[in-house]
Amino acid sequence: ATDMPNKSIIDEWLQEETSISFENIKRNINPPGAIRGFVAASPSRDHPNYFYSWTRDAGLVMRVVASTRYNDETKRLLQDYVAQEIYHQAAPTVCNCLGEPKFNPDGSGYDGAWGRPQNDGPAIRATTFILLASRFTPDYVERTLKPAIFRDLDYISDVWSEPCFDLWEEVCGVHFYTLMVMRRALTDGAAFALAQGDFSRQALYVTTADKIAERLASFWNGAYYAATQDLCEPGSSFKPSGLDMATILAVIHTGWPKKVLATAHKIEAVFEQLYPLNAERPSGVGISIGRYPEDTYDGYQSGSLGNPWFITTAAMAELYYRAIHEWKSEQTTVAVNSINAPFFAKLMGMSEDALIDRTFPFGSKSFTTLVQRMADEADRFMATVRYHQRDNGSLSEQFNRFNGFEQGARDLSWSYAAMISSADARAGHLI
Ligand code: NOJ
Ligand code: NOJ
Repeated sequence: ATDMPNKSIIDEWLQEETSISFENIKRNINPPGAIRGFVAASPSRDHPNYFYSWTRDAGLVMRVVASTRYNDETKRLLQDYVAQEIYHQAAPTVCNCLGEPKFNPDGSGYDGAWGRPQNDGPAIRATTFILLASRFTPDYVERTLKPAIFRDLDYISDVWSEPCFDLWEEVCGVHFYTLMVMRRALTDGAAFALAQGDFSRQALYVTTADKIAERLASFWNGAYYAATQDLCEPGSSFKPSGLDMATILAVIHTGWPKKVLATAHKIEAVFEQLYPLNAERPSGVGISIGRYPEDTYDGYQSGSLGNPWFITTAAMAELYYRAIHEWKSEQTTVAVNSINAPFFAKLMGMSEDALIDRTFPFGSKSFTTLVQRMADEADRFMATVRYHQRDNGSLSEQFNRFNGFEQGARDLSWSYAAMISSADARAGHLI
């Protein structure tokens, strides 16, 4: 087919782009004028001002650095990051809790009006710290990491069922994404507590993770996972569909649960129609994906028109790469059912009727074809990023829904981290 992404072009570009991404992430850590360990969301200080350290962004970015970019240089940066976060944990904040979303370059909590608390932050931080515990000396773990990890996890065990602001900092309620990263943190935390001989914490974290898992199941609405329940202001929803890339990010940030292809399909279909640039894609370029269809934040202000984001477009690719990895490593026989049929119908270019109840047995010829189609589709999402990036490889937050030009905060650390983790997943390294 003419719209096949060119695999060797993607291979070559990814090699270059991941190293540019890594260099640009490093430039955002410890910038002049900030406390040690400051991880700027972006170097942009106005229009928009993103020169803050968000607990969420910093945790996700440093997890990528810690997992596949660990060396003597980054070891130092990671310890700086840890020092910053421990400082934040103790800093007085407006929220007066561990869910304060963002911090100033001098380490103090941001004290303007903001959506707070955002309780995904401490969960993401704990997961990153637990990964670091496997890298650093027992002494450093005992004195520095352990108290910080338990602090976050004890907090999460306490507040998990309370409403808070979502990862997009807009909606107050109980969120699929937030619960997913909390569950992951507690599961990792239970193993960590056991290794530390803290059996009562281990038990607490296991019990809480189980309760969260039960609650998560209720987000399935029969057709897809919806983003939010229990709005703080009932009736205030401006997102009637509940379709949100936050659910896909939740899966790639936690590796659980696995069955989100039907949700991914619905989200893709919505964005394909919504953004004019999707109608004029050059050959080999995939659909551009935003945060959620009703988004009005244009990178500078809300009440405007939302756009596709690099984070979410790369995340869609990563979801596909992860599905391939899982099918292969678990020797899965992929089964089509009434829920996932639309996804497979589009992928295989077949009718849903022809596919329903069909299987792709692991190792069969049809399985190989399926995996090939998945890999091509994933590469198309990567090609989308390639097509809209700047010539020098820099990535901002968004790209314009009409003309594809970058907009919003420039050199967004999280955009770079999302590219790297997607490329890693393509190569079979899952974080
Ligand atoms: C800034 C937040 O970071 C962004 O997620 C949000 O969409 C806008 N403010 C508008 O509320
Ligand atoms: C806005 C995004 O919605 C939010 O998730 C992120 O933490 C901040 N920008 C900073 O990058």
